[in-house]
Amino acid sequence: MSKAKTAYTCQNCNYQTPKWVGRCPSCGQWNTLLEELIVKEKSPDFSAASISGNKPLTLNEITPLKTARIKTGIDEVNRVLGGGIVPGSLILIGGEPGIGKSTLILQLALGLDNLRVLYASGEESIQQIKLRAERLNISSEKCYFIVETSLENLIAHSEQFKPDILIVDSIQTLSTELIESSPGSVVQVRECTSAILKYAKRNSIAVFLIGHINKEGSLAGPKVLEHIVDAVLQFEGDSNYMFRILRSIKNRFGSTSELGIFEMRNDGLREVKNPSELLISKINEEVSGTAIAATVEGIRPFLVEIQALVSSAAYGTPQRSSTGFDLRRLNMLLAVLEKRAGFKLQSKDVFLNIAGGIRIDDPATDLAVICSILSSNIDIAIPHKTCFAGEVGLTGEIRAINRIEQRISEASKLGFNRIFIPKLNKGFDAGGHNITIDKASRVDEVFRNLFRK
Ligand code: TYD
Ligand code: MG
Repeated sequence: MSKAKTAYTCQNCNYQTPKWVGRCPSCGQWNTLLEELIVKEKSPDFSAASISGNKPLTLNEITPLKTARIKTGIDEVNRVLGGGIVPGSLILIGGEPGIGKSTLILQLALGLDNLRVLYASGEESIQQIKLRAERLNISSEKCYFIVETSLENLIAHSEQFKPDILIVDSIQTLSTELIESSPGSVVQVRECTSAILKYAKRNSIAVFLIGHINKEGSLAGPKVLEHIVDAVLQFEGDSNYMFRILRSIKNRFGSTSELGIFEMRNDGLREVKNPSELLISKINEEVSGTAIAATVEGIRPFLVEIQALVSSAAYGTPQRSSTGFDLRRLNMLLAVLEKRAGFKLQSKDVFLNIAGGIRIDDPATDLAVICSILSSNIDIAIPHKTCFAGEVGLTGEIRAINRIEQRISEASKLGFNRIFIPKLNKGFDAGGHNITIDKASRVDEVFRNLFRK
């Protein structure tokens, strides 16, 4: 079979060259050349005969697809997918190597009792998969495994086996004979995915593709897969910690604000129904430098412990470091404390850590971050059972936040008796929770209330 030709095309100006170069000779941009298939140009056919059987329809004329969703045995996955797997959909699961993608998908595959599953692995031998399944202590008679790295063979196997669900672990190990580039290159990944997509839609097979995240943090190169597939789920967490979060980044059949939380144990992944209990340390004595934030990730409220350590800088330039929280945001909050609330932190080292190894993007964590820093700075502990929710603006004002009722109710459910919230949040229903609500409009107001003796 003759190989298809590829060329490097500049994504900025469309310049083409047969060899890769770092800088486009035409427009001068760096790193914009991507290998692409050269498609022979055909003269366009505008005759009516070429569109037979395909005509424009009004909404009333379109018959809706019956999308009875397939429920997996893992509730957190069902939730993230928007209620279950839609037949014929292509779902990409991305994540860093070693985070637990293969474990998650194997657990899912073995938990689907009544469906035929074909699990094609290009990364591990079937013996390794067997070992893993033994570790997970689950088994299924309907799940078949094969080691395959050729796209053509994979589709041939699938044609013959006719599974309900096809799993490809991983898309970066798959390659088609039509293209010369090595597996994992952008062209291979894109062509293989499009071929699988066509096959899956034609036969109404749901496909899970596993994809590695590259150094820049995007899935399989420059987002090539994200527009092809129906749903993109990202599996993330710090592999040194047990927490894993499954986030939906794109979903044609559901919301992207859903979130699944798992714990990686010796015998596989376990769903975490109540994350707050694990994210707050159970130490009963009060220590300075910790504050509890009532955060919301996606649409799930939970409480998380923020730890700060402020000490005098040993060298000229103070160090600022943060784990699980955006460093730029931390620097901004420190500047606000300095300029708007009069705290001298210029010559102090500041270290910030979000307990449990999770990453928080919710701006409503700001207030807890500020309070933990201050508590460490003056070495006075924040009173027990107190938590915070509020976004801090550049003038030191506390801005209104979303989902305030959920945050209050989660805090109260976990036995907290005091919560600081923005004064600007009005018109919500505190719902008769047994918790004192302190409203504040500026950060200095919070400190005065908090550390008043
Ligand atoms: P894996 O699913 O192979 O990751 P990926 O496919 O994303 O590369 O999981 C790798 C890690 O998970 C490995 O370092 C060991 C750990 N692990 C457990 O802690 N418990 C388990 O039951 C299993 C199967 C793996
Ligand atoms: Mg793997």
